[in-house]
Amino acid sequence: MTLAIKSKIFQEIVDGLQANPASISPKFFYDELGSSLFQAITHLEEYYPTRVERGIMHSKLAEITKAIAAVDVIVELGAGNCEKVRPLLDSIVPKQYRALDISVDFLEAALADLHQDYPAIDMQAIATDITEELLFTDLQDQKILFFYPGSSIGNFDPPEASRLFSNLARECHGSGGLLIGVDLIKDIHVLERAYNDSLGVTAAFNLNVLRQLNHVIGSNFSIPDWEHYAFFNQTRDRIEMHLRAKSDQLVSWPGGHRQFYAGEMIHTENSYKYPNATFLKMLQEAGFTEVTAWTDPESNFLVCFAGFK
Ligand code: AVJ
Repeated sequence: MTLAIKSKIFQEIVDGLQANPASISPKFFYDELGSSLFQAITHLEEYYPTRVERGIMHSKLAEITKAIAAVDVIVELGAGNCEKVRPLLDSIVPKQYRALDISVDFLEAALADLHQDYPAIDMQAIATDITEELLFTDLQDQKILFFYPGSSIGNFDPPEASRLFSNLARECHGSGGLLIGVDLIKDIHVLERAYNDSLGVTAAFNLNVLRQLNHVIGSNFSIPDWEHYAFFNQTRDRIEMHLRAKSDQLVSWPGGHRQFYAGEMIHTENSYKYPNATFLKMLQEAGFTEVTAWTDPESNFLVCFAGFK
């Protein structure tokens, strides 16, 4: 990482810690341990999104493949363990697979494993923050399928999600498209259980961000003095995750500090849930002219292909 990027990240984190209420971007969850903890979450009984999405991809693969037709390159946003793309590599057989993620060490190891099983597909791991502007100038003449599974789109506020869709639609130049998974609104108890699992893995995942901050900005967060708090905000249709101070405490870092009071919270994540029709409308309004969607029998999760007529 260059010095300029390091100081930009330092400033971004400190600005969040000084804000009222304090916040930390969820992109800082994914250090090596955080990525492993997220993987563990996806194995939990309570955390249905990964499992249900995989089920849809499996049972609807023929229809999904038909809707996408032929593309030259699959670009996955937030690829993580690079496992979710396997069925698409089997059925679409692109020339190239490009995996984008903020956590590059984890990504490179995962991509190396994948390449062993698909030696004929050219693969590239790219460390990037997808919340920043994305440009694919070197792919101008290629048919691109953007792949954004896992409902990670839920981390964006709806207007930001719409902006991302418009950017991706533009980068498609009228062919290819976007295959995206999104979590749907459902019974509040099911939603809240998914973010308050009985093994405490989600709590560890949330608290780990403080460990990561201590490492990145040299702060002195005492992890035992904070607790996990997650609930569904029914006004805004989103799961909110926070870290709550168990006692009054002073947190310091090079060049600054903040006093937190018992009960005070740091907002660490939003995970928006959508009504089916709202999400499809957002994709259409972003410039995609043909949107097809598949869901599971209980309508827990939605997989959409947004392309062009
Ligand atoms: C990776 C953003 C899809 O919002 O469900 C899981 C992250 N946070 N448990 C989600 C997460 C807590 C996850 N995404």
